[in-house]
Amino acid sequence: MNNDYQLFTRKTRAIIFNLQANAIQRMLDFDYVCKREKPSVAAIINPNAKRGGYHKTFWGTKEILIPIYQNLTEASAKHQDADVLINFSSFRSAYPTSMEALDIDTFRTVVIIAEGVPERRARKLAAYAKLKNKTVIGPATVGGILAGGFKIGNTGGTIQNIIASGLHKSGSVGFVSKSGGMSNEAYNIIHKNTDGLYEGIAIGGDANPGSTLIEHLLRYEANPKVKMLVCLGEVGGTEEYKIVEAVKSGKITKPVVCWVTGTIASKMTGEVQFGHAGAKAGSDKETAGAKNKALKEVGVVVPESFDDYGEKIRETFEKLNLKTVKTEKTVPPIPEDYKQLKAESKVRKPTNIICTITDDTGEEPLYAGLPMSKVIESNMPLGEMIGLLWFKKKLPDFAAKYIEIVLRLTADHGPCVSGAHNTIVTARAGRDLMSAVASGILTIGPRFGGAVSGAAKHFGNAIAQGMTPLEFIKYMKAKGVNIQGIGHRIKSATNPDVRVTLLKKFAKENFPKTTHLDYALEVEKITLTKRNNLILNVDGCIGVLFLDLMESCGDLFSEKEKEEIIEFGILNGLFMLGRTIGMIGHYFDQNRLRSRLYRHPMDDVLYDTPDPKDLGYDL
Ligand code: ACO
Ligand code: LMR
Repeated sequence: MNNDYQLFTRKTRAIIFNLQANAIQRMLDFDYVCKREKPSVAAIINPNAKRGGYHKTFWGTKEILIPIYQNLTEASAKHQDADVLINFSSFRSAYPTSMEALDIDTFRTVVIIAEGVPERRARKLAAYAKLKNKTVIGPATVGGILAGGFKIGNTGGTIQNIIASGLHKSGSVGFVSKSGGMSNEAYNIIHKNTDGLYEGIAIGGDANPGSTLIEHLLRYEANPKVKMLVCLGEVGGTEEYKIVEAVKSGKITKPVVCWVTGTIASKMTGEVQFGHAGAKAGSDKETAGAKNKALKEVGVVVPESFDDYGEKIRETFEKLNLKTVKTEKTVPPIPEDYKQLKAESKVRKPTNIICTITDDTGEEPLYAGLPMSKVIESNMPLGEMIGLLWFKKKLPDFAAKYIEIVLRLTADHGPCVSGAHNTIVTARAGRDLMSAVASGILTIGPRFGGAVSGAAKHFGNAIAQGMTPLEFIKYMKAKGVNIQGIGHRIKSATNPDVRVTLLKKFAKENFPKTTHLDYALEVEKITLTKRNNLILNVDGCIGVLFLDLMESCGDLFSEKEKEEIIEFGILNGLFMLGRTIGMIGHYFDQNRLRSRLYRHPMDDVLYDTPDPKDLGYDL
């Protein structure tokens, strides 16, 4: 045990072993309420954190970052002002980590929270701490508190409880007990019957605590700010006889109120083991009754039962005749925890994002309300699932199949097309999958693959406005706009695009209506008279057939929905989704081939730069 009677001050800082977010927040809330200058948590040790980092937590209404380290050495070296280690490690690692802390000069106090630390190890810890002139509190403890100054972990419970028990301001009573739960009760009793707690320690319920009742009482005796001592003993062990001795020998002169709990044990037949490992009377001397009697005999104030513990504390305090003015320290409002309030339905906030297609708040994601397990168990076709996520509709069979055919048809068209080419060039420049595929996707546009939506728009409008195919072509020519979905670089009337042939065949066999396709084919007849390659291309065919699909679905799609699907460019997504499959393939292909950086051959470029003289340079 450290010789210094003052273990903690308003400046004490701790390092927390293991990331205990709740305990840390409670310590910081306490600090904030006590108007401490600096948070009492200096750092956190998380042995599992690969690279350290920071823990984000609240300081009042603001958020602050507390550094995380992987080990004690690093943390203590960086935070030399932290002289307390609050060790939340498991009962297995509590011993080695606490021993390590006792060897580090900057630590004066080590608090061990874990229950179940083997007795032999607990004894070694206590002995080593003595040797090092350091203090161990615990094992199996909730910790302790310097009222208005420093709080260990979860001591005192919630911040509301702490304020209700006046623990945010300093009083004159030094308290020690074995039990953490009982100490919370005692803090409340002390608050009601005195000018408040000065400091309270729960030494923990094990048979071999790192520091003992008498050691803490002697600290309080030495501390001029402590005017009276209050103690809660426990059945089992002979620790309380040390208090008897100290009072008898005059080592303790301040008034002591003490109650040894567990008097009920004598009413029971046989040996009784209470919750704590050390709470059983091995001999008559260890019974609560015997200990209370011995304490009383030397002048310790011992109540008749726990019921008049508060009364005895009050009487003893009043006899001190302290000139204390009970000043009510103003407490800064403690912001409520949003999560907690939300759980209690006491708070609402407007959301920033609306999502109407997927819900992941439950046990499994819902696709347009349908549990994902249903999607899998029913072996739902991909086309139907796309219907759920894109349109929030259960598409009829022919429509779902159509979407799947489109995805298969557009999956790839060789390395020479714009998108695949860019993917290949990017892959060969050493970029990753995402970058290479993104560069391919970014190529999709009104001339390449991204004419699906445009085709639906152009042909849809022409039909809606009652234009004949010829009027439509003339109208577009007059506007100087190429009809989206018409024309191809290599496909022509004499070299037809198989994809278009297949789509037309499927639609004729499966679609209830093909009005838009038929119209587009009439347009094609005319454009082909101008040039052989002005065919209805794959983008155009997909686009007009989607208009037929929507029309064939009766009132499944409202007029507004049809407009939006075209307007927002959703139909280009069909090509984009399909072609991504091929682009990923090209990326892997180039990597497998270990292809080197691509450089376009210079003899494939016509160089035609200006003459500098024409620009006004005199060379
Ligand atoms: N509508 C009307 N006239 C057209 C169209 C069209 N869609 N496409 C080409 N023409 C005309 C041009 O006006 C030009 O006429 P001119 O000789 O009187 O000046 C002539 O055909 C040649 O035009 P180019 O642009 O040189 O034709 P190219 O074969 O290079 O273009 C392309 C092919 C880019 C596909 C073009 O036809 C086009 O822009 N089409 C519309 C966009 C489209 O559907 N793209 C998707 C293609 S399929 C795919 O990428 C998967
Ligand atoms: C494709 O699907 O990528 C092609 O139709 C485009 C092309 O230029 O051949």
